[in-house]
Amino acid sequence: MPQLLTVDTDARTVGNVQMFVGGEWVAAASGETFAAVDPSTGETIAQVPRGGEADIDRAVAAAKAMAVEWQFTDAVARAALLRTLGGLIAANAEELAHLEAMDSGHYLAKARELIGALPLWLDYFAGLADKVGGRTIEVPGNKLDFTLLEPLGVTAHIVPWNYPLLILARSTAPALALGNTCVIKPAEQTSLSTLRYAELVQEAGFPDGVFNVVTGFGPEAGAPLAAHPDVMGITFTGSVETGKAVAKLAADHVAQVNLELGGKSPMIIFPDAELDDAVEATVQGFCSHAGQVCVAGSRLFLHSDIQDAFLEKLVERLKTAAVGDIYDDSTQMGPLVSEEALERVTKYIEIGKLEANLLYGGGKPQGTADGGYYVEPTVFTDVSNTDRIAQEEIFGPVLSVIPWSDEGDLLTQCNDSDFGLFAVVFCQNITKALNMAKRLQVGGVMINDWFGELPMSPHGGYKQSGTGREEGLETVHGYTQVKHVSVNLDGSLRAGSDWSGAPL
Ligand code: NAI
Ligand code: MG
Repeated sequence: MPQLLTVDTDARTVGNVQMFVGGEWVAAASGETFAAVDPSTGETIAQVPRGGEADIDRAVAAAKAMAVEWQFTDAVARAALLRTLGGLIAANAEELAHLEAMDSGHYLAKARELIGALPLWLDYFAGLADKVGGRTIEVPGNKLDFTLLEPLGVTAHIVPWNYPLLILARSTAPALALGNTCVIKPAEQTSLSTLRYAELVQEAGFPDGVFNVVTGFGPEAGAPLAAHPDVMGITFTGSVETGKAVAKLAADHVAQVNLELGGKSPMIIFPDAELDDAVEATVQGFCSHAGQVCVAGSRLFLHSDIQDAFLEKLVERLKTAAVGDIYDDSTQMGPLVSEEALERVTKYIEIGKLEANLLYGGGKPQGTADGGYYVEPTVFTDVSNTDRIAQEEIFGPVLSVIPWSDEGDLLTQCNDSDFGLFAVVFCQNITKALNMAKRLQVGGVMINDWFGELPMSPHGGYKQSGTGREEGLETVHGYTQVKHVSVNLDGSLRAGSDWSGAPL
């Protein structure tokens, strides 16, 4: 099969691409396209179809036409296709890493790490296909009572731009393993790696129509997908505002939703913390992918006794964190994804200057390309938990440092947030650390470690950080529905002694 995407890493272009509907590579029905941009330079690298309602209708129809056949394809066969896809991802990892880096701003070494890990997700979810199922139930009388765990049918996957392939794989792989068909709407900022992934899906031998990709903008392609009456499940990762809009569209046709909506995660440092580790985790927490991470540890609760020593080490460490081009070997932090993201983060830095004390950063890093969307790691101290920079998701490398001294008050402040995705506790006293883990109102806690996403551990949020769980065995609920079956084993309705014949 000829490859449709041509990745030129020297020219940093990809050419014009098509989207994948019903097993065919097509332009948008309107014929319109939009530019894919390299955030390191601000240059256009490809033209992408600008999908709309007509394209969504076509993709959902293709997915619906295959839904029953895919549901009744042997689970082992579905699993085998997912494992073949994992192998193809590994074989094409270098090219996928370049695409991800060029289109999303992950620096190449990081993109290689991310893509290198991806086959683990395919393998884990392939394993679910023939290992999860219904249960038998003990009911009174001579009956066989059991459940069947069945797919939802057509599922929609609305993906953001921060981890395009990881977020695509973590929802489509379990959906496919459990017998659903998929329509994917990648983020308009990062369509390219998803289209190459779709080529690999085709090469792996998935039947046409099982996996479809419609590229385009949120209101034009995402909204009609969420609203489509034949879509029975929607997995969305992104902003709270858009998540709520998607859930409202889903409610109109009673589709199931899985929402992962970001956070304002506390990094909690106790006075007995191992300082060097805590500093490194803090840097990872707010600088990983330039802070464009749902779990970003952007609220640092720092015990007053160690504040000076900690901040001194933090500033020294940040001075070594090179911000730059994705292809520069020394880069530890790339650009923000888009001009819009840069404007948004810059606005929050200005708000921070009014609310708190700017300790470090706040500007454009020296030596970075003029057209790129770079921002320095930025640290504000003397932040109050009620400040906007402590409550709102900035989605950039901006840290708000909040001093604390009383443990009860600390917990109240940590939980005083509309979000509840994740928290980190650095503390050598295991009793204190576990007490925090038990009382924090969040979907995930790391103790003496920074976040590492894995397919086997459930990920998701409390409060406005979302609903449902990605990954782990818990993800099964997001892509299945339960059918109850009851069988009378007496052979005739009135033969059994428990039949009263009474009406309900
Ligand atoms: P967004 O939530 O608007 O976009 C995410 C996805 O939803 C994209 O595929 C987009 O095309 C789609 N979308 C947008 N409007 C839609 C609609 N009306 N109906 C259906 N789909 C729609 O997020 P955006 O604008 O890219 O980023 C804004 C903020 O959202 C960020 O600054 C960050 O705070 C947050 N965010 C959180 C993410 C996370 O990992 N939890 C990921 C991306 C953004
Ligand atoms: Mg891009």
